[in-house]
Parts: sequence; structure tokens; C-alpha cells
Amino acid sequence: MALHLGAQYILEHNVGISDAVLLDPLTEEAFIENLKKRFSHEQIYTYIGTVVVSVNPYQKLPLYTAEVIEEYRSRNIYELPPHIYAISDEAYRSMRDRNLDQCIIISGESGAGKTEASKVIMQYVAQVSGKGREIDRVKEQLLQSNPVLEAFGNAKTLRNDNSSRFGKYMDIEFDFKGDPIGGVITNYLLEKSRVASQIPGERNFHIFYQLLAGADPTFLETLKLSPKPESYGFLNKSGCITVDTIDDAREFNLVKTGMEVIGFYRAEINEVFQLVASVLKLGNVEFSHRSNSDGTDGCDIASTQELEDVAKILGCMEQNLKSALTQRTVEVKREKVKTDFSVAGAVYARDALCKAIYSRLFSWLVQRINDSIKVKTEQTKKVMGVLDIYGFEVFETNRYEQFIINYCNEKLQQIFIELTLKEEQEEYIREGIEWIHVQYFNNAVICDLIEKNNVGILAILDEQCLLPGNVTDKTFLEKMNTTCKDHPHYESRALRKNQSDRSLPHDAFRLKHYAGNVTYKVDGFIDKNNDLLYRDLSQAMYACKHNLMKKLFPEGNPTQKSLKRPPTAGSQFKASVQELMKNLLSKNPNYIRCIKPNDEKQSGKLDLDIVKHQVRYLGLMENIRVKRAGYAYRQVYDQFLYRYKMLADETWPSWHGDAKEGVKKILANQKIADDEIAFGKSKLFIRNPRTLFDLEETRRERMHFLATLIQKVWKGHVKREHFLLMKRSQVIISSRFRGFYGQKQYKRKKAAALLLQCCTRRWKARKLLAELKHQKRMEWAAGVIHKYYLGWKVRMNYKPKFRRIAGPKVARFMVVALRRKFLLNVRDKLPSLSPIDNKWPSSLNMYKSASDQLQVMHHRWRCRKYRRKLNESQKYTLREKATASDIFKDKKVIYPESVPHPFKGDYLNLRGDMKWKKIHSVTHDINLVFADLVHKVNRANGKIVQQLLVISSQALLVIDHHTMTLKYRIPIEYIEKISLSPFQDKLAVFHMKKPENGDKFAKKGDFIIGNEHIIEIVTKSSLCLKNKTSKMPEITISPQCSSQFGNSSVQVSFQQGAKGLEPGIPGVKVTRKKHLMLISEP
Ligand SMILES: Nc1ncnc2c1ncn2[C@@H]1O[C@H](COP(=O)(O)OP(=O)(O)OP(=O)(O)O)[C@@H](O)[C@H]1O
Ligand SMILES: [Mg+2]
Repeated sequence: MALHLGAQYILEHNVGISDAVLLDPLTEEAFIENLKKRFSHEQIYTYIGTVVVSVNPYQKLPLYTAEVIEEYRSRNIYELPPHIYAISDEAYRSMRDRNLDQCIIISGESGAGKTEASKVIMQYVAQVSGKGREIDRVKEQLLQSNPVLEAFGNAKTLRNDNSSRFGKYMDIEFDFKGDPIGGVITNYLLEKSRVASQIPGERNFHIFYQLLAGADPTFLETLKLSPKPESYGFLNKSGCITVDTIDDAREFNLVKTGMEVIGFYRAEINEVFQLVASVLKLGNVEFSHRSNSDGTDGCDIASTQELEDVAKILGCMEQNLKSALTQRTVEVKREKVKTDFSVAGAVYARDALCKAIYSRLFSWLVQRINDSIKVKTEQTKKVMGVLDIYGFEVFETNRYEQFIINYCNEKLQQIFIELTLKEEQEEYIREGIEWIHVQYFNNAVICDLIEKNNVGILAILDEQCLLPGNVTDKTFLEKMNTTCKDHPHYESRALRKNQSDRSLPHDAFRLKHYAGNVTYKVDGFIDKNNDLLYRDLSQAMYACKHNLMKKLFPEGNPTQKSLKRPPTAGSQFKASVQELMKNLLSKNPNYIRCIKPNDEKQSGKLDLDIVKHQVRYLGLMENIRVKRAGYAYRQVYDQFLYRYKMLADETWPSWHGDAKEGVKKILANQKIADDEIAFGKSKLFIRNPRTLFDLEETRRERMHFLATLIQKVWKGHVKREHFLLMKRSQVIISSRFRGFYGQKQYKRKKAAALLLQCCTRRWKARKLLAELKHQKRMEWAAGVIHKYYLGWKVRMNYKPKFRRIAGPKVARFMVVALRRKFLLNVRDKLPSLSPIDNKWPSSLNMYKSASDQLQVMHHRWRCRKYRRKLNESQKYTLREKATASDIFKDKKVIYPESVPHPFKGDYLNLRGDMKWKKIHSVTHDINLVFADLVHKVNRANGKIVQQLLVISSQALLVIDHHTMTLKYRIPIEYIEKISLSPFQDKLAVFHMKKPENGDKFAKKGDFIIGNEHIIEIVTKSSLCLKNKTSKMPEITISPQCSSQFGNSSVQVSFQQGAKGLEPGIPGVKVTRKKHLMLISEP
């Protein structure tokens, strides 16, 4: 087993034997010598097995640092030198890991170092347990409860500068992880008599001195206190005010901070100190004697100042307080009567009040701390209890308090004996282990002497207290003397066996305690056991306005009239001690046995006699002997098997056979020597703790291995689960993907297959079609061949006959048939009857000439038919049109456009015109053929003027169209010739016959006119001339013509290509240059 470097160092510097069980020879001297040797090397702790023996060093040793705690943390008890840390660690781990509630019992006489040991344990637990805000707060509260309770409950005694004057048992509560979550403190009987008086050299409780030394002056002023302890009756009598080892002022601040950390409200802190102050003040209240008129003694308050102050602090009436302190109410024959106290009575009442206030205040403090540190949640708790109770005391004068304290110590010793000596030895016998009995002193007999029902001292005391009549401490002693006279541990001067013992006073009894003889003065036993406070006093306290004070004296409430007597202090204490014992027995005990090295509180000094005395009464030698002969460890087989089953392959993970057999397998596997172990009936015994620690160590290593294995398997399982999940997911994903991909592929393939199928089918179909076509062609060809063949055959057969007879017939038939077909075709497809419809059915070339002739005939026929439908005027119009055609067709460019226009003739509707009528009445041109405005070209200069031209069947009339006056009339027969150009122009040159008879119109010569209807004008004038002369005039259509203008002959020339001419009529430019008249047109 490897050791820490620090641990190595400590071990190397180990002196003597660290476990007294290993002492050789095993004698008392050797044991004490060993203690002394170690003590001189500042090794104050020694083991007896797992019990720690601690010798008070009376000096600060470097044993309690954080580093040392770290060394001891989670180490086995024998790995390192003995230390309270080792036993604390053992207890803490057993509690945390094995779920066993623990208690650490610290015993030893006053000043042996119990309280210090309990603080060391708390310091260790605080450091090794978990961290965190809430946990640290709880730890801090638990730790801070120490200075507060010590200030109020500890005092300087002759034996100890910081002696605990109350018993304290503290349960530290942990959660399942081993982190502190709270605690419960139980306090046992405070030595309240110390409030009113102390023996010389001792002090009152620390808090009085601390308050006066540490509180700031203003606060003291509010408490109406002076900072001088000497000025207070309760502090100045013992002659001890200051203690070298105690800095009261510093402690006061620690107490205040502690109270704040625990959670006391500021108001509560003030109230607490107000009560402390009022106790001091009340202690200063003095009484003066007064003789009453009825002869009885009475008393008065000597100086009222203190009383006034107390009344102010507590918020009560001074008078009430005064009467409560000087008088008491007595019931005489059911009548309440006030009787005065004598001075002594008043002092007694005052002291009783002060003690009551202080002790109740102390109990309230414990309760208040408990409220703060209690576990607030409903969770399962593990508990580690630490018992630090006042140690065994022997003073010069021992009173009721010492009796109670020593009784308590007897009980603790009883527990120790029960568990380590008696029970252990009995167990060996029970389990059938070979055993030689170790003798020891069993203090049960002393416990019985004190606590036994009916006959025990406490019972006698209670009985005395309850007896009516005049009961005194003396009667109590007498009663004891009769009841306990035969008890070997009881001595009294009145008994025969002690009559000559002068060291035993008459008013005392002696008990032979396990730790030595103690003589108790009976004085005050009855009173203290009764623990009664005059009702007037408690009522006065309840009447105070002071909150806390009111709370402390609930029985002072006048409405609550309880006639029931409260239990005596002794019986209360007995009950609470029995409760404590029960509590301790329910837990796994761990012991720290404290030894005081000398009575002078000196460091480095070990008084052998003093130590020997303690070693004896503590029964340490017996303890060693039992341990040495016996076995350090025992465990029921089932539990042992359960805890160590992983140490053998056969028992891990489960063993189904007999538990004992399983245990044997484990031990064999671990190669444990036979003399190291013993097999009891139900338990296994292991001699040497080291063996157990080795087993524990192996278990720890194995647990590590198993934890790793479990982790490995678990991690493997988790990873595998994860992997399988991933795999399943992957399979799903890939199947989906493959599905999707396959679907896509399939669609593509399907499409491709369809395409291929299509192509193939098409190819096949084509092939088939080609085959069929081929077949059909073949069939057709075969048919044709066959036909031709048949034809040929027939022809071959019939050729001779055919040529002769059938040939001409067939030819004729064919000709007839073709003609017939041609004619029928012509008949069926005859064009319409419109003479201008040029359509005609096509025909074979051979019938071309017949077809043309038929077309002509048809046309003529339809023309005749058309003509027959016409009336005379239409016929005339048509003749006009035919004449125009004869004249102009294919000669004049503008002719075709004139064809569809009918020759209207009278474009101006002149026939109805009156002016015309006037004119024709003169000229007799009644038969009007044409009338329209025309452009007449001036023969001289070619200028064009507009004139009205009228053609009648007799003449041409030129009329001024403005005035409708006839300009001249040219008889139609005068017209010899008419010339026109073949071009676009719409001009005509009218050539006149040579003038005869001086005809004036003829003289003027030829004239040129232009009109939109020039075709009509020329046609109509020609026809009129023909009608008159039966001869058509000569009409020439040529670009040039020669004209006779008057006497001069002029060449009229039409020219095309002129530019810049205005469109419209006449649309020409006419220029005359001597004998040339040039008519330019576009
Ligand atoms: N381990 C220690 N290291 C240093 N000093 C110690 C140690 N233990 C005790 N002392 C000294 O001894 C004194 C008395 O110790 P402590 O108050 O613990 O005794 P106690 O057993 O509680 O006595 P009592 O029964 O009167 O309360 C302490 O004030 C301290 O000075
Ligand atoms: Mg103490």
C-alpha cells in the first residue's frame, strides 16, 4: 500500500507504539510510559484499537492544518499515526458509504480536551464534505454555533479556563452524498448556580465578561452597564475577573459575528444582551432589613437605581419588580396573603430569578440555533453525533451540580463498558469463540445507586421534594442513609462503616464513582432539585414588555393556572440522559478518551499519578486487554459477504450457497492467515484491523476495477445502442435513398424500355408493313403479271380474231365514248351566261378545235341571249360602247378604265335646265346626247379654260357655263377628223372641215378639248356624225397630228415624261410655239 509523502514523513517520525494493543509487555506502567514518551514528542494521540486516547497538550500543535486533513482524508485508520482526523474520517466514511449513523463519544474529566476534540471533528467534517453555497452556509452555521454556546455555557473553573458548564450533544445531519445539510443540538443541564456565585478563583459564564469588555460604550450605555466587571456583585466575589488565556473583547466580537452568521436578527441579539445586562443589574440589587410591626422581618431595596435600570431595560413597572423581589404571595386558607421576605429570603429570590433568567435564556439560545440549522427539506438524512459533555469533576466542595455531572459521566462510562468490554466479551462467548474472560470494573452498580427507581438517590431526592411538610436537605440525607446504607459505593458519616472517617462531614455523603470518590454536600439538593421560582417573580417577568423575557416565563401568564407540579431537575436530567443513551446506542459508536496530563494546565508536563488515575478509572487497560485478546472487527456473515463478495471469483457477482461458506471462499481467496480470523456462529471475527483495512483496500481497488468494468460495459452498451440506432437510421436512410434512386432509375429505365419497345415495335411494324407492302406489291405484281399473262394469253388466243373484227369496233367505241365524255363534260361544266365570263371547261387536245368552236358558239349564243334581253336605249348604249371599243381598244391607254363606266351623257342634268331649254329652243338641238364641263385649250397660247360642251344629235355646242350663253355651235357634219394621243391624257383634237361659205365656226379651225369622259365624247360625236352622214369621222390615235388653228397649221405633239404637273384634269401642260403646240403629260 503506497503512502503519501506527507504520511511517510509522519510515520517515520512516529515515537513509541501508536496502537497500545501492540504493547509488549502489556502493563499499566508500559502503557503510561508509552503515552508519556509520545506526549513528550508532541504525539498526543494513541490508539487502543479504534479508540483514540488523547492527552491534552495545553499548547497549540501543528496538527490541525488543512494539509494534515488532506493527509488523513480517505485513508485507513492504520495508515497514518493516530489522530482524531483518522477516527473522524472512519466515522464519516462509514456513515456516507455504509449508511451507518455514527456517534463520537468524547469522554474525560474536566479540562481533558473534550470540547477541543469536538471542534477538531467538526473542522475535519467541514473540510472533507462537499462544497457549494448552501452547504458552506450550513457548515458555517454549525461551526459558528460553538463560540456562541461556549460564550453562554462555558466558564473558567479551577480545572479548565474554558470549562463546559452544560452538556452538549450535536447531531450533524448529512444528505446521501455526505454533504452537511443541518443539525440538531441538545443541551443538558446548565450549571446555573454559577450565575449567582462562584468558588474563589473561578468565573461566571464568559458572556458577562465578554459583554463588558467587548461591547462598545454606547451599547453598554443603552444597557445601563458600566464596563467594569468589578462593579457587579455576580462577578466580583470570586476574585477572578480576567483569564490570561482568554481575550474577552475579541471573543465578544466573535460571538456577535457568530450570532449573525447563525441568523439571529439584530433585535434578537439586542434582546439577548438586554437579558444578560438585566441579570448583572439584578445581581447588584441590595436589600436592607426592616422590622415589620407584626414582629416579622421584612426588607427594602437598599438602592433603587439598579432596580430602575432593570425596569427600564425590561419594560416593566419598577414597583412590580420591587414587590416581586421583596414579597411573596402565600395562600392561607384559600386566601392570598402577601408576606415580606427577610433580607436573606430576598437575596435568595433575586438569585433564583437571575439563575432562572440565565438558564432559560441559554435554552432559548440553543432552540434558536436549532431553528436556524435544522434541515428544511424532507429528505432522508444520515447522522453523525458528537457528544461533548461536562467531564467528571471533583471539587473541594461538591454540590448538586457535581452530583448531576458525575452521574452523567457514570452513564457514559457505562456505555463504554457495555459496548467495548461487556458486550464484546459476551459476544465472543455467544458466538462460540474461544475466550478467556477479562476482568473489569462495571460501574452499572453505581448507576443503579443513583438512578434506580424508588431506591436510587435521584428517586429519594424526588420523593423528598414531593413530601409535604418541613423537608430539608438533612431529612434527604437521613433518608439516603437508611435506603443506601448497604450499598458498597455509598458512604455517609451516619453509617457505621464510616463513623470514624473524619474526612467525611456530617452534612455530606460520598459516592465511590468509577473515577474516584466524591463527597457531596447535601446543602441545596432539595432546593435545586425542586428548581422552583416564586410565582410572583415569574409573573413579574411575564408582565414585562420585553419580548424575549415574556417568552422565557410563560408560566407567569396569570390566565394559565397550572396546578401541576413541574418535574424536578433531577428527574428531567435523568430522562434526558436516558434518552441520550438510547440515541447513542442506536448509532455506531466511536470513542475519544481524553486525558488531562496535569492539574496545572501546563504544557509539556505529564503527571504520572494523575494520568494513572485517569487510565484506571477510564478502564483503558481493560480495554486494551479485551482488544488484544479479542478481535478488532466482526461482521455478520451476510453483510461481510455482501461487502466483500467482489474479492473472490466464486462469490461475484452473487453467491447462492451458505453465507459462511461464501465468506470462507473470500478469505481463502485473499490468503488471510487462519489465526487472523475466527468463525463465530453468525459472525466473522477479524483479529487485526490491518487485515480489515487490507481487505478494504483490495475492495476499493476491485471496486475501481468493477466501476471501470461497469462503465466500460455501460459505455459499450450506450455506444452500441447508439451505433445500432445509427445503423437502423442509416439503413432506413439508405433504403429510402435507394428506393428513391431505384424509383428514378426505374422510371428512366421504364421510359427507355418504352422508347426501345416503341422503336422496336415501330421497326417491327415498319418491317411488317414493308413486308406487307412488298407482299401486296408482289401480289399486285403477280396480279399484273397474271393479268398481263392472261391478257397476253387471251390476246394470243384472240389476237387473230381481234385484229379483224373487234379492233375497229373497239376503236370506234372508244372514239364515241371519248366524244361523248368530252361533250358531256362541256355540258356539265358550261360557264355562266355572263358574256364576260371567260371560263371554259378543259378538254383533250384532240378535241381542242371543237372545244374552241363550241366556246365561240356558246359565247355567241349567250351574247345573243343577252342582247335580246336589252331595250332600245340599252342597245344604243351598248352600240356606243361597241363603237368606243372599235375606236379605242388597244389604242388608247385610258380606254380600259372607261369600259365599266356607262356612258351617262347628261352629266349636268342639263335636259331639265331652263337656260338650256332656252338655248335649244333657238338652236333646235333638242336631242341632247352629252353635256359636261370641258377644258378647252386656247388655240393661241395653249391656256386652258373651262367651258360647257353640249353634244346634240345635230351639233356641238360650246356654252359659257357661267352665263349659259352659247359661245358657238358647230354642226356635227363639220367634224372631219378627231385625233387623240395613245397616252394618258384625256384630250381630243377636233379637226374641222375646211370652212365653206364663211362659216364662222369653221374658220376658227380645229379645237382641243379635254374631259374626264373624252372616250364618251369622241364615241358619241362620231356616232352622231355617222347618224347624220352615215359615215364615221376619221379617228387617228397618234402622238402627233397636224391641226389648223384659224389660218395657221399647227403641229400638235403629245409628249410623255413631263415633271411637276398637277394631277387631275386636264393633267397636262400645253405650250404653243408658233406652229408647234406641245402637250406635255406625266
Ligand atoms: N488538542 C489540543 N491542543 C491544544 N490545546 C488543547 C487541546 N485540547 C485541549 N486543549 C487545551 O485545554 C483546555 C481545556 O480543554 P477543553 O475545554 O476541551 O476541556 P474539556 O474536556 O471540554 O473540559 P470541560 O469538561 O471542563 O468542558 C483548552 O482550553 C485548551 O487550552
Ligand atoms: Mg468542555
